[in-house]
Amino acid sequence: MKNQDIQLDSQGRLRHFLTIEGLKKPVLTDILDTAENFSTVGTRNVKKVPLLRGKTIANLFFEPSTRTRTTFELAAKRLSADVINMNISTSSTTKGETLLDMLRNLEAMHCDMFVVRHGSSGAAHFFAKHVAPHISIINGGDGSHAHPTQGMLDMFTIRRHKPDFTALRVAVVGDILHSRVARSQIHALNTLGVPEVRVIGPRTLIPAEPDSLGVHVYHDMKEGLKDVDVVIMLRLQRERMQGALLPSENEYYRTYGLSREKLALAKPDAIVMHPGPINRGVEIESAVADGPQSVILEQVTNGIAVRMAVMSMVLGRPGDEQEAG
Ligand code: CP
Repeated sequence: MKNQDIQLDSQGRLRHFLTIEGLKKPVLTDILDTAENFSTVGTRNVKKVPLLRGKTIANLFFEPSTRTRTTFELAAKRLSADVINMNISTSSTTKGETLLDMLRNLEAMHCDMFVVRHGSSGAAHFFAKHVAPHISIINGGDGSHAHPTQGMLDMFTIRRHKPDFTALRVAVVGDILHSRVARSQIHALNTLGVPEVRVIGPRTLIPAEPDSLGVHVYHDMKEGLKDVDVVIMLRLQRERMQGALLPSENEYYRTYGLSREKLALAKPDAIVMHPGPINRGVEIESAVADGPQSVILEQVTNGIAVRMAVMSMVLGRPGDEQEAG
């Protein structure tokens, strides 16, 4: 079954959100526009709208997370949903309960949505295939496959600073091979019409067939960063590396770390992004991460509005109360 078949209903609306790959531009634009409507909720005295009142959302994070889990929880609460944060390390999976049995038990508690992060690529699809028909799955990151809400919050952040996707040159730098974030970003950038998406990194950290991703590959930062509008830095995903793919972190920083000197090769008004967690002095210089071109913390803030948008689109089915304002 194709990705888009499982995540869209018969009317073409989002039923799950598992991957950006295969989704059409109007769906992505709808997410960005809906997030724009939600972006002021966090600045009000009462940071709540009643859109998902009565819905129950369970966060199932099998891998560590700071930003994604917290902003999903905040987003759900700002939509007035009830939220359960499962502590997987103290759940009965440690006593031998299977994932499917855990799902069945959460279904029996009348949950409406599971937000899932898992170390295995395909885990979110597995959940989507096996849950009861009334339950939606949102992928909070699966292995090195996809992190679709991160991809969309990055597009939202880019659009805030550079409204015309069709006029952009974007560079994604670092460990492309293991990055679910990079895959989601690249699918979104291509679908939204960015004419030149570059990836920059050592040969050992670039996928074997980069052409299939629709990107231009560079191994030299001087060439790859020249005249780009957006620089997206990535963390080295040590936990997914098998064998020695890098000489040393010092050597990596010298060659691929984003210093002020290297950033000067991009356009003067280029923005610097990073999905986090950042490793200062490994992929980015502190002066750049905290500097005037950095929008790294804006990405975090925007994650709430984008996750509100995705959850409301998936759960706000016809007949439900629609009050985003
Ligand atoms: N960007 C991101 O996924 O961060 P966390 O791992 O902290 O959720």
